[in-house]
Amino acid sequence: PLVTSKELFKKAYEGGYAIGGFNVNNMEIIQGIVDAAKEEKSPVILQVSAGARKYANPIYLKKLVEAAVEDTGLPIVLHLDHGENFDLVKACIENGFTSVMIDASKYPFEENIRITKEVVDYAHSRGVVVEAELGRLAGVEDAVKVSSAEATYTDPDQAVEFVERTGIDSLAVAIGTSHGAYKFKGEPKLDFERLETITKKLAGFPLVLHGASTVMPEFVAKCNEYGGKLPGAQGVPEDMLRKAASLGVCKINIDTDLRLAMTASIREFFVKHPEEFDPRKYLGPAREAIKQMVKHKIKDVLGSSNRI
Ligand code: G3H
Ligand code: 13P
Ligand code: ZN
Ligand code: NA
Repeated sequence: PLVTSKELFKKAYEGGYAIGGFNVNNMEIIQGIVDAAKEEKSPVILQVSAGARKYANPIYLKKLVEAAVEDTGLPIVLHLDHGENFDLVKACIENGFTSVMIDASKYPFEENIRITKEVVDYAHSRGVVVEAELGRLAGVEDAVKVSSAEATYTDPDQAVEFVERTGIDSLAVAIGTSHGAYKFKGEPKLDFERLETITKKLAGFPLVLHGASTVMPEFVAKCNEYGGKLPGAQGVPEDMLRKAASLGVCKINIDTDLRLAMTASIREFFVKHPEEFDPRKYLGPAREAIKQMVKHKIKDVLGSSNRI
């Protein structure tokens, strides 16, 4: 069935594992993810961004996710990723989403609280859970470059106040991850001391890690081998994700790894089979590449296998 993340996060927190928040944009991506989750007997969160809604048309995504629920029988959360405003949140709740993110992290603290609280009141009255964000992930969320990394990271005391005053169900924290394929220039580094402090101060409360793709080297290499250009692409090492999952982090967001798995497969196919032009011939293997990558994440990194 379509479920909220309430019970999933409770069990994940207690079990020291995390649920994958996977971004979906079309049928092959959805099928690859849920086929993997089904084989691993894992709950899964399918998340839709504003860009995904614009690309696919909301009704198509909704119906595809309904089909995935019917086909797999899995507990699936349909989640809005980085909801920018109340109107978008409202539209998604009307569309049957069981979870929404309101991302007002670019606003000052009090404004973030006000906007988030408004969403919480609306969503909770309709049985929908809310994720919000405090602190800012590097790079993507704003053109303004903040001089000190410290300024963008989540402040643990503010996190406690934010959770108490908004009534949210989960909190996305900034500890050094960022969106996309270029997360670190040198050695990958996350502020685990900060994550441990937040976990302690918000004992039992589910945290979310955005920008958590590993940018898996084999996909980057394959893209580059078959005509791509991704020099210096680097993500979050899987050991760090395991460590985050063992702390308060209950949801780990993955989009870039899906994109890379799909693109690497298609690039290889086109180079090896220039005579082919049937989309099923290259989208089939691309879907399979997503499935294998997601299985690996669920089994070896998130730890959510056999949890349903
Ligand atoms: O937060 C970023 C996710 O990867 C979604 O990306 O906005 O291009 O769909 P998108
Ligand atoms: P990645 O770009 O690391 O996959 O992050 C995805 C994400 O945080 C979606 O909200
Ligand atoms: Zn994100
Ligand atoms: Na955890």
